Amino acid sequence: MRAQFRLQSGWANLALFYLASHPKVVRDAVNHLSAQVDANPLSVPTGLALPDGPTGWPRVRQALAAYLGGRAEDVAVTASTSIGLGVFYNGVVTRPGQEFLLTEHDHIAHRTAARLAAVKHGSTLRLGSWFADPATATADGIAAAVGEAIRPNTRVVGITWVQSSTGLRMPVRAVAEVVRRANEDRSPADRCLLVVDGVHGLGAVDEDVAGLGADVVIAGTHKWLFGPRGTGLVWVAPDVLDQLRPTFVSFISGGGAAPLSPGGFLAFEHAFALPVAVALHEQLGRARVAARITQLSTQVKQGLSRIPGVTVHTPADAKLSAGITCFSVAGHTHQQVVDHAATRRVRLSTSTYTRIGTAVINTPAEIDTALNSLADLTR
Ligand SMILES: Cc1ncc(COP(=O)(O)O)c(C=O)c1O
Repeated sequence: MRAQFRLQSGWANLALFYLASHPKVVRDAVNHLSAQVDANPLSVPTGLALPDGPTGWPRVRQALAAYLGGRAEDVAVTASTSIGLGVFYNGVVTRPGQEFLLTEHDHIAHRTAARLAAVKHGSTLRLGSWFADPATATADGIAAAVGEAIRPNTRVVGITWVQSSTGLRMPVRAVAEVVRRANEDRSPADRCLLVVDGVHGLGAVDEDVAGLGADVVIAGTHKWLFGPRGTGLVWVAPDVLDQLRPTFVSFISGGGAAPLSPGGFLAFEHAFALPVAVALHEQLGRARVAARITQLSTQVKQGLSRIPGVTVHTPADAKLSAGITCFSVAGHTHQQVVDHAATRRVRLSTSTYTRIGTAVINTPAEIDTALNSLADLTR
């Protein structure tokens, strides 16, 4: 698997969740399709093929649906998580005075999509808080906090499956249950929808996205899934489809969620190579991929907790975390930590905290190198 990647040698890249490096099978598929588009641009979108047969929007949606444990008609395709978030927040039918409820821990792309759409639609964005400290958060505490924060005018609860700011994995099923309870006496137009930014769960967590209990799940497929850069999806529960309006023209024919897919001529050689990335993950096995990611991130958390001066912000519980571990080093800014690790040929990243991401292709030895570089810094 490791040999599939053209990652710079001699470096431990523990930030692969930032943007996918294309595995060889994906590169080959993109090149194969690109040659066909160059030879005859009129071959898009229905005349393109991968070596094993035709590819196009139906195959892409089918491949994604199988991986999500859902139906192809419930999948819209986008070029990124950010575009999917825009599709959802611009498209959700709201009445003036209704609100979107998120938190500071949700990604700027998520908060901005909600804020911009709220301004247009006469709704508001409210930022709540699901925990005081991510490291000590519990599933019950988070679900209770969401339940208490929902108001009669809350139209959307927007959460992040795995937060890139804290590494915390939200207990989506438990949150879905409190949202379901809040909806018991509501009409469809007043119903509170649960939307999940799933980008750091998809390809990292062994769950059927379509069975999480969310109304809408949005994700890029160009991070943990190693899909072609510039690909993503929006999964819509069939019973909320009539609550969403398209924002862009769609060039994908068919009903269901297809009209939500932003159209125009796109990078078809990337979009139509997506089934190859999904097949690679299926060949590895979703459970095995998730187990490996957990094993490595557990090594990270345990190692970090033994280094004096390091504070881990991500929950230790594997059920409340996935492949991103966030931490701080006393006396050093996050950028200083990243820069120091780079002197040891270790790639880390920062947002709110310093982050170590453990992808399926990382190794225990790479984690040790990263931990040793941090131990050096604190000596
Ligand atoms: C939680 C989260 N949501 C959304 C995004 C934006 O993703 P995309 O680049 O696919 O738009 C990111 C980017 O890293 C992220 O971490």
